[in-house]
Amino acid sequence: MIKIAVLGYGTVGSGVVEVIETNKTDINKKAGEDLAVKYILDLRDFPGDPYEKKVVHDFDVILQDEEVKIICETMGGATYAYDYTKKALLAGKSVCTSNKELVAAHGPELLRLARENHCNYLFEASVGGGIPIIRPLNYSLTAEHIDGITGILNGTTNYILTKMDRDGADFEDVLKEAQEKGYAERNPEADVEGYDACRKIAILSSLMTGKSVNYEDIYTEGITKITALDFKYAGQMNKSVKLLAFSQDTEDGFFAMVAPFMISKDHPLYIVRDVFNAVYVHGNMLGDSMYYGRGAGKLPTASAVVSDVVDCARHQGKTIMCFWDEEQVKVADIGLAKRKFFVRVSADKREAAMAAFGALAEINVGIAEEFAFMTQTMSEKEFTENIEKLGGCINRIRIMA
Ligand code: HSE
Repeated sequence: MIKIAVLGYGTVGSGVVEVIETNKTDINKKAGEDLAVKYILDLRDFPGDPYEKKVVHDFDVILQDEEVKIICETMGGATYAYDYTKKALLAGKSVCTSNKELVAAHGPELLRLARENHCNYLFEASVGGGIPIIRPLNYSLTAEHIDGITGILNGTTNYILTKMDRDGADFEDVLKEAQEKGYAERNPEADVEGYDACRKIAILSSLMTGKSVNYEDIYTEGITKITALDFKYAGQMNKSVKLLAFSQDTEDGFFAMVAPFMISKDHPLYIVRDVFNAVYVHGNMLGDSMYYGRGAGKLPTASAVVSDVVDCARHQGKTIMCFWDEEQVKVADIGLAKRKFFVRVSADKREAAMAAFGALAEINVGIAEEFAFMTQTMSEKEFTENIEKLGGCINRIRIMA
């Protein structure tokens, strides 16, 4: 019997307990031993909950209990979670987490602590919720040189953008509705400004390179400036707007970015709708592969945490290899990245825009006050200089090739 502690009895933590209970026959068989939740750490009490007697308020109770071999860290944040994770690993207890903030900030250090103490720090649930993506990158695509990852990594923003596309609605209205339905947080900043996706692509990029990609080096732009009219233009171009997080290892350097992009109907990520996530991976032998599923939510995310618990149970006393060194990757200046752009300017700037951008393709949806167009391929730097020559624009959206 392997005893487990769950840190944080919120959405994901309570999901972990539920998954272990609901699927205990399968899980115990796959783990090779029976798993049992011994403690749940939370600040609150849960009177009437079937697990109320397992709730403790002091982490030291868990740390000092020799029987506890695996800890599920579903607290979130990078303060207490960091402290507890380090203490657990130093005590030789494996930790399975859904906490992307902590993994992005301290992943290589925590992996090193796990190695030094013959246990595991596993984080399948930190990216893409229930989608297996960490394990494929770590154990399956080991014969590949992975040179590109593009993901829809945030369910909240994908839900909002899907609704805007379908209903012709504006961002603020859809956000409000999403908050009322519980799809978006009351403080939605981390999602809508792209910070959540940024941490997730930093984790995937680190696994792709085997080194550390610092999330603070990744250019990040959210979806708050995308409007219903942008979707009208996108529709005219047979495209939609998605918040993409990507990294590319090219001859010109390592590029990473989070931003709204227009993508065509024939791009595999086009069909990823609502709260679903997908990760599109390019390897030099395999070519493209895509991993798709529920990127958020209680049970999908908890299922990924418990899959890590099973891996820990199967590898007691042994550390599963994870190639993520502390050496930093130099992220290239995005000014050098080349792509096409969709641009909207006021109608009086038509001639100036044509002079600045040269050959361009006009997009007309019958708005007399505006001139909208798609540029040729150019660098971000050249694009920004041209927009400055025009004295700014109404909006601009990058186009995914
Ligand atoms: N807020 C995140 C999302 C939850 O919307 O995708 C999963 O990390």
